[in-house]
Amino acid sequence: MRSDFKKVLITGGAGTIGLPLIEELLSRGIEVTVFDLEEQIKRLDKYINPKANKFSGSILDSAALRDAMFDCDGVIHLAAHLGVQRTERNRLRCLDININGTQKVLDACVMSGKVKKIIYASSSEVYGEPLSNPINENAITQGKTVYAVSKLAGEELVKAYHSEFPHLDYSILRFFNAYGPHQVSQFVISKFIHRVSQNLAPIIYGDGSQRRSYNYSKDTARGTADTLFSDKTSSQIINIGNSNEPITLIDLAQKIIRLSGKEGSLEVEIRNSFEETDRTVNREIFQRFCDTSKAKELIQYQSTINLDDGIEEIIKVGSFQSSWITSEKDYLID
Ligand SMILES: NC(=O)c1ccc[n+]([C@@H]2O[C@H](COP(=O)([O-])OP(=O)(O)OC[C@H]3O[C@@H](n4cnc5c(N)ncnc54)[C@H](O)[C@@H]3O)[C@@H](O)[C@H]2O)c1
Repeated sequence: MRSDFKKVLITGGAGTIGLPLIEELLSRGIEVTVFDLEEQIKRLDKYINPKANKFSGSILDSAALRDAMFDCDGVIHLAAHLGVQRTERNRLRCLDININGTQKVLDACVMSGKVKKIIYASSSEVYGEPLSNPINENAITQGKTVYAVSKLAGEELVKAYHSEFPHLDYSILRFFNAYGPHQVSQFVISKFIHRVSQNLAPIIYGDGSQRRSYNYSKDTARGTADTLFSDKTSSQIINIGNSNEPITLIDLAQKIIRLSGKEGSLEVEIRNSFEETDRTVNREIFQRFCDTSKAKELIQYQSTINLDDGIEEIIKVGSFQSSWITSEKDYLID
């Protein structure tokens, strides 16, 4: 274990994975700086641990990044443009934020002269529809979307910066379906919980047989922190996910109805098409499970929070974001 980190910057730190990551790092005695869009920090302010330093700005703004990174020796880069519908509707913006933004984060790391390691948040989307499951890090990447392309480009940039500036160590994490409190309700679990909390039926597009496995945000955050502090994760690509409880969309919707205490009063609504939705047959991934043996070997990673407990905690926290921040400030070009 490395113990040489004192101050860590989290870009996108006011998001679903960022918020529990702040807690995780603070609990390990690390000073934390959160960098996120001004509106996002305002929106979730009461959930950001007051011990964290807060900086608002866009990762497209080099000067703001440099200020936020002052004195940091580690960077966890989570900020990104994501979401199925959103990234497909705003393809150039997705490419710009996820590729140019990542490059600016890397430039700031190099210019700081102090940052020793960057953790880059990539995605299982880079695998596209896997040829076999569970999928490990050696599988070919065949992403179907602009978002997947942007995440792959980010991975390549991180590797290229390390080749040119070897003192900048890195790890690339491919997250699989993280869910947790405060998540924007374009994601299925928060969408279903939010609808059920309003006495509305969860709606399923397609036949509902799509199977997924979900990882609670606190587990994802712990795996991320362990990756930073491990001396075995240098220059590694690592899957972080949970394959313990694969579940179909229909079963997931029914589980949420039951855990919300609405059994008998709400039924799942199945629409056998992708019409009027942000999903399309071409974009849909029908089956993708994570092989986490590498994470287990390198950082003893295991997901600890089961789906029932995770869903119950989201219901208890009761903080739903109906949309992403849409302000033009996340598109500030310096
Ligand atoms: N949640 C998942 O299932 C999942 C899966 C795979 C990969 N990832 C990746 O993990 C990272 C974190 O995801 P999350 O689930 O916490 O998402 P999130 O949307 O909850 O958090 C992302 C954060 O980035 C911020 N952000 C967006 N654009 C920004 C910009 N231009 N400048 C500064 N901040 C900006 C947002 O305001 C938000 O707080 C992302 O890179 C995402 O692509 C997430």
